[in-house]
Amino acid sequence: MSDPLNSTEAQKEIAKLRAEIERHNRLYYIEAAPELTDREFDLMLRRLTDLETQFPEFADPNSPTQRVGGEPLKGFQNAAHAVPMMSLDNLFTQEEVDAYAAKHEGPFVLEPKIDGISISVRYENGQFVQALTRGDGERGDNVSANLKTISSLPLRLQSDNPPAVFEVRGEVYMTRSGFAALNEQRQEAGLEPFANPRNACAGSMKLLDPREVAKRPLDILFYGTGQLDGIEFSTHRELLDTLTAFGFKTAPFAPTCADGSDLWKNIEQLDQMRDEFEYEIDGAVIKIDDRSRYAGLGGTAKFPHWATAYKYPPEQAETTLKEITIQIGRTGVLTPVAELEPVQLAGTVVKRATLHNEDEIQRKDIRIGDRVIVEKAGEIIPAVVRVVKKKRTGIEQPFNMIAACEALGINPVKIEGEVAWRIDDLHHPAMLKRWLTHFASRNGMDIDGLGESIVELLVDAELVKSPADLYSLTKPQLLGLEGFKEKKAQNLVDGIEASKSRPFDRILFALGIRHVGSGAARILAKEFPNIGKLMEADVQALEKIRDIGPIVGKSIVDFFQCLENRKLIERLQAAGVNFEQAAKGGSDELAGLTFVLTGTMESLSRDEAGDEIRKRGGSVTSSVSKNTDYVVAGEKAGSKLAKAEALGVKVLDEAAFLNLIGSAAQPQGKSGQQELFLG
Ligand code: IVH
Repeated sequence: MSDPLNSTEAQKEIAKLRAEIERHNRLYYIEAAPELTDREFDLMLRRLTDLETQFPEFADPNSPTQRVGGEPLKGFQNAAHAVPMMSLDNLFTQEEVDAYAAKHEGPFVLEPKIDGISISVRYENGQFVQALTRGDGERGDNVSANLKTISSLPLRLQSDNPPAVFEVRGEVYMTRSGFAALNEQRQEAGLEPFANPRNACAGSMKLLDPREVAKRPLDILFYGTGQLDGIEFSTHRELLDTLTAFGFKTAPFAPTCADGSDLWKNIEQLDQMRDEFEYEIDGAVIKIDDRSRYAGLGGTAKFPHWATAYKYPPEQAETTLKEITIQIGRTGVLTPVAELEPVQLAGTVVKRATLHNEDEIQRKDIRIGDRVIVEKAGEIIPAVVRVVKKKRTGIEQPFNMIAACEALGINPVKIEGEVAWRIDDLHHPAMLKRWLTHFASRNGMDIDGLGESIVELLVDAELVKSPADLYSLTKPQLLGLEGFKEKKAQNLVDGIEASKSRPFDRILFALGIRHVGSGAARILAKEFPNIGKLMEADVQALEKIRDIGPIVGKSIVDFFQCLENRKLIERLQAAGVNFEQAAKGGSDELAGLTFVLTGTMESLSRDEAGDEIRKRGGSVTSSVSKNTDYVVAGEKAGSKLAKAEALGVKVLDEAAFLNLIGSAAQPQGKSGQQELFLG
């Protein structure tokens, strides 16, 4: 270690580090041209954190170390917008675009209309001071702590001579890939998925704990101004250029258009480019370039005349709703699903669509046999948006959720405060099948040969009434089932036997405790040496654990309070299932490193590779980001590899990966660090 710094030296180094970190942040998040590895960056940040702790007199709320703030808020403070936040009038046809262009003289600037949440961010003398939501346009919520967690947002303007007041307006959004990953995690944890990236973004902005917000894949793009003092722009183009120079992210496509036909050409081109953006757009915004005309143009109470929005028609299709079936979620949530006459929509054939819940069906008056409009909401799940009532013939049948459940022999219950019905009876065959499939799944006990169809046979034959029964299954019993011969029966018995020695976290996930996905299971398995200790833990103890929190905590306590579940654990233990942490055979040579696995490897499965990484203290996540240290790419690696390359994340092929775990080679960043700060 070098000599301790005196106060003046520390102040100098702190200032230098802050400027450097801000520069690298910009290179990474805005220019997509990083110069440092994640590790080098993290080390710089750590050095700054250490210095700020040692020299608290130099603390600064806008230091890059202060992005993820302290304690959760009790609520959001409301504050007035210095300049009201208006909205935009909408145009729906080419004729309307032509008419707008003919009425106002060009040039115009065309921008994507991002489908997110609008935010006004205020800087004074170049320093971030606050971020407000739009609210009612006059007053909004102070969401400063949440906004600061967005890495691409500058906390200081990139300027030697910043204006006294600079209010910028933009759109917070959730990236599509981040949205998909978030929903995957939520589903795994038994939580309701978000309907689309916009909802997920809005939900994230309402969170009171900035540490939670920091985990959400949010970003922000800027396109306008509020109050300005000490700076003026004569054109919108000039504003966009200045935003970029100050360090803000702006739209990658913002062409200048001379007239109506030019606008239309670019509106069509933007439509073609839609899928390339990392955010969803729902239209194009047309802005008059000459800002000196804005005041004179006036507007209505709601929107100004200097800009307007063209809305793309949503991707919809009409088809017949043939039937409504009921899908049972892992935690017993019953979701009504529309079975549709197959129809082409946004490039895919849609056969099923979610109906969300019973209230939704009633609100939209959806009946079996109706002609319905389906829409691709967000990226993944198509939804029924409305019924074409004029096409009703009178034979359409209203849907009754309770009756439909009863027909399946399900007795549904409604949990207070939730819209969803659930099965509360784990022993109901449908629920039991779902549970056993989950129990045996790859992230659970990983039982070879026990997929959905075999589970079905075992439950229907009443051989298995609880996961514990699996461990007493015998070969003769299996040979009595349809399609079972010697080899298949042996394989299953072997698979079940092998599952007894899975790592502790696997059984914790396999138990199917509400809200405990594989991530939470891994944390619990690290935190508690064995199941006995976990069963003794109370909510206070559990909620203190990082990334667990009160909801998951309560769910765990509830689970173990149930006598039947305790009996299940006893039986599983008696059968020899592992409920303990492995003796510390692992090491920590990969501690702090994050891996993403993609493609297939010859010598080990993805799960095995994951176990090897975790054993050495590393962690594995599902999507590639700037926080990823390595992407391990096997054969047929797809978009994750492409993303890694785009982000400059290190990629390991199978041989390199085996080498890393075999020889525990240190990543290059480590030596870099020493040169950087300790030399
Ligand atoms: S300019 C006077 N530009 O769309 C309002 N808005 O309906 C000026 N939006 O509230 C807004 N992308 O939240 C503007 N490139 C863009 C936009 C954009 C999305 C949102 C914004 C606004 C709403 C208007």
